[in-house]
Amino acid sequence: MRYCWLLIGLLSPCAFAEQPNPHRQQELLNMLKHDCGSCHGLPPKGGLGPSLMPEALIDKRDDLLLDAIQNGRAGTAMPPWRAFLTVDETGWLIQRLRQP
Ligand code: HEC
Repeated sequence: MRYCWLLIGLLSPCAFAEQPNPHRQQELLNMLKHDCGSCHGLPPKGGLGPSLMPEALIDKRDDLLLDAIQNGRAGTAMPPWRAFLTVDETGWLIQRLRQP
């Protein structure tokens, strides 16, 4: 069920099946601030890395964002995060970034 995140949409019955627990959600938000923020800004309007604000992500596919975060982007400063974030956690973060 881990790829449920890729089937965008609230109508997907499994969209919220694998939410991180509240404690982990807090850790993930801290990570977004401190780790991602150092390159993407705080709020993440862009810096060394591109903007991760909802309007910047609107035309970007979940699976490509997920791949960028999990595996990094070779040849750029974007590092892989798969050692720190599961696929589900990454999916959750992407949904958070999409919220205004
Ligand atoms: C060391 C700097 C750095 C850090 C830290 C970093 N990023 Fe990035 N990120 C980049 C750069 C540079 C790119 C653009 C890569 C490219 O040119 O394709 C990028 C690209 C991305 C993309 C793809 C955006 C798009 O428009 O396609 C996402 C999503 C992303 N980062 C999320 C994150 C998240 C989430 C974190 C924290 C867990 C993070 N990044 C931490 C530098 C960073």
